[in-house]
Amino acid sequence: MAKRIDPAPPALYATVQRGLEEVAADEITRDVRGQVKKAKGGIVAFRVDAPDADLLKLRTVEDVYLLAWGTDELTYRATDLESIRHWTRKVPWDQFLKIHHAIHPKPKGKPTYWLVTQMTGEHGYRRVDARKALAEGLTGVFPASWKPGEENASVEVWLTIDGKQAVCGMRLSDRTMRHRTYKDEHMPASLRPTVAAAMVRLAGTAPGMSVMDPMCGAGTILAEQAELANRRGQPITIFGGDIDRGALMAASSNLKRFRPEMLAQWDARKLPVATASIDRIVCNPPFGKQLATPEEIGPLYMRAIYEWNRILKPGGRAVLLVGEMPPLLDAIRQVGWSAQKQYRVRVLGMAATMSVWRKSE
Ligand SMILES: C[S@@+](CC[C@H](N)C(=O)[O-])C[C@H]1O[C@@H](n2cnc3c(N)ncnc32)[C@H](O)[C@@H]1O
Repeated sequence: MAKRIDPAPPALYATVQRGLEEVAADEITRDVRGQVKKAKGGIVAFRVDAPDADLLKLRTVEDVYLLAWGTDELTYRATDLESIRHWTRKVPWDQFLKIHHAIHPKPKGKPTYWLVTQMTGEHGYRRVDARKALAEGLTGVFPASWKPGEENASVEVWLTIDGKQAVCGMRLSDRTMRHRTYKDEHMPASLRPTVAAAMVRLAGTAPGMSVMDPMCGAGTILAEQAELANRRGQPITIFGGDIDRGALMAASSNLKRFRPEMLAQWDARKLPVATASIDRIVCNPPFGKQLATPEEIGPLYMRAIYEWNRILKPGGRAVLLVGEMPPLLDAIRQVGWSAQKQYRVRVLGMAATMSVWRKSE
């Protein structure tokens, strides 16, 4: 049975990178005072007292939707199509459109709408059949003058089917939510900003702290750190560097408005920074395929962590995202940091682990 949603105010859901549901749920709870109902499978379902444009300021989520209905009881059989039609018909779409228009004023000219259906798993019906059932459930919802559109339509209704789970909603966010205004320059190994945002939340900075990304690439982590600190009104000091000149130029461009204390071309194994001077290290070192030979990883992590332990203050924290944990664990064993948290995620299509560490006092 699909879960019925109270007509007022509707529930919401956010899509997040799998593995980061807990971090996103924490942001939703703290930053938009959401009451989280469920956080798994790449989805965080929640409620707020009054959905408004503040929802689009969330940093760790990919998209935010008004929840029309959700189920984890699909049968895989064609009878699901009747359920999709039935559940979709019962949604108070007028109210959804009102909330959507309050956040995105109606465009000049004729509005358009787009129905998006995603389906994974083996079902006894096709994706087009599910989309047709969704369209039938929506009959009469959009005025006749509204034309069906494609990407960048005024209003989008999404149906995502994953095995026996399905969720349907009206998308409140658009491309601008994930797009960051600082991102002038991109590099192939650059992190998704939402993943970098999760890392800096886990770093847990306080006013006056110093934060370093010693292998900063295009500077995504430091930009997210600076934006989070600005939002919280926290003055923090940012240090970054990379061995690669091209990466450094991209970082200089992306970080120019954040005025880093230091942005240098350096080898992260030998940093021009005083011992015990940095509060937080947040970094995504190169993964296997990103290095000339994967055997370089062990020695690189070993020497880098040794150096990072030197510059970290006692009680300082490191948040690291790597593809292979064993070489990182070997490297950390030599400095004795204590493990705080660990999240399995996917980065650029590869399995990766985000881990949080603390240097003892
Ligand atoms: C996965 S990328 C970082 C991407 C970055 N987080 C971003 O979003 O753009 C790893 C970076 O480590 C840098 N790197 C590799 N070895 C290094 C070293 N010994 N010292 C400093 N940087 C290094 C690479 O040049 C590359 O830019």
